[in-house]
Amino acid sequence: MSFTADRLLLFGATGDLAQRMLLPSLCALHADGLLSPELEIIGTARADLDDQGFRNFARAALEKFMPADRRGSMGVFLNRLHFQPLDATQTGHYGALAKAVGTPQKGLAIFLSTAPSLFEATIAGLAASGLTGPTTRIGLEKPLGTDLASSRLINDAVASAFPEPRIFRIDHYLGKETVQNLLALRFANIMFEPLWNAAHIDHVQITVAETVGLEGRVGFYDGAGALRDMVQNHMLQLLALVAMEPPSSYNATAVRDEKVKVLRSLRRVSAEETVRGQYAEGAITGQAVPSYSDELGHPSDTETFVAIKAHIDNWRWRGVPFYLRTGKRLHHRVTEIVVNFRPVPHSIFVGQKASGGSTPPNQLVIGIQPEENVTLSLMAKVPGLDRDGLRLRRVPLNIAMADAFAGPQRRIAYERLLLDLIEGDQTLFVRRDEVEAQWDWIDAIRTVWDAGGLAAKPYPAGTWGPTSAIALAERDGVTWHE
Ligand code: BG6
Repeated sequence: MSFTADRLLLFGATGDLAQRMLLPSLCALHADGLLSPELEIIGTARADLDDQGFRNFARAALEKFMPADRRGSMGVFLNRLHFQPLDATQTGHYGALAKAVGTPQKGLAIFLSTAPSLFEATIAGLAASGLTGPTTRIGLEKPLGTDLASSRLINDAVASAFPEPRIFRIDHYLGKETVQNLLALRFANIMFEPLWNAAHIDHVQITVAETVGLEGRVGFYDGAGALRDMVQNHMLQLLALVAMEPPSSYNATAVRDEKVKVLRSLRRVSAEETVRGQYAEGAITGQAVPSYSDELGHPSDTETFVAIKAHIDNWRWRGVPFYLRTGKRLHHRVTEIVVNFRPVPHSIFVGQKASGGSTPPNQLVIGIQPEENVTLSLMAKVPGLDRDGLRLRRVPLNIAMADAFAGPQRRIAYERLLLDLIEGDQTLFVRRDEVEAQWDWIDAIRTVWDAGGLAAKPYPAGTWGPTSAIALAERDGVTWHE
């Protein structure tokens, strides 16, 4: 359904995500003239605010979370904002909400950034008050359930009022510039695709390392853990983009068709192929930090670190392990994909004393954050007269995106995703079959953990996780990229 919404209804408008990401993203889009002048934004939450109160609230959030040089037209932006208080569980409140939304000329985009336990009541309220018509689309923020069964319940509730082409499930990693660049790298260059398979790739590593701890999300995080919070969504989406077949074109159906095939080809993982960890006290960049249970206030077995050796059972990836690891309070913040190629089939340098006969394989490192860069390591000859034999060394061919594209404004993921929601492009949103394939695989891991009573192993904050995560790779002769 192609329409650009002229009303945006934000549920959870006074929440943390709204303050840090949604309001700053909308203000940035406004400043760059990317929002149509008619677009009105209606915030809703339980807070007892009126329009002016919400504008004051939004101003404070923008001043806190938006760089000063991007806040130029903040005053005009704030005038787009309206507020309607709502208790999502009270059916009677939705009539007033519908009145506040009014009658959009073109269409309505709704964004649900509330606890999933409220989704069902919210959808019912929206439906009863006439806010789910054919020119309404809905964006859903994670977490969409805690397992396959609960995610199905949410998906069923949403599907009762919206058909799939009007449902936009957010995985904010898909809004990141470098994640999209992965598609450009793979499918706009001829040289990678012929090598992108088991014949030429030895293994792939995907790391999403954070230095932050609980960040006050006590209630949510302890019930989720790293497997559900990071692997089920962000890491599996990265894996799917790395591993998928070339889609026939860059559109929502073609790209998502290919991703879901990968997700459905993930082999069930055994307990020995996983590591669970939880941070103990330690230090991050010289600063002492408490253990997870101290932050939480009580002992817990929730994992803050996961490492997994995954396999994709299809022709392209037969025998190629994908090593995944993610954790909180790790050594430093980095998200990267490392593609390790196989060694050359025959080294002509074996007789060369100086090089020791070794030709380390090529490696492609796609840095997603905090640095956006692509580095291809190549073997080169060390300059010299080589009296002791030829000397070889690995050298990087390095593209720093910030230098290559110094002009264009760098945008945060939610700018892109909110604009796509308003304009109706689903390419960077997750389809129901993808989410369910993701949960299916994750649930099987949790079953294996429960069956084996696999406890989370402590690791000192500021390290790379439990030593068993290093062993997981080293057993196969693989070293994690650091
Ligand atoms: C969220 C997780 O989805 O992603 C958080 O719930 C995590 O626990 C965050 O910190 C990481 O996002 P980013 O963009 O900072 O890598």
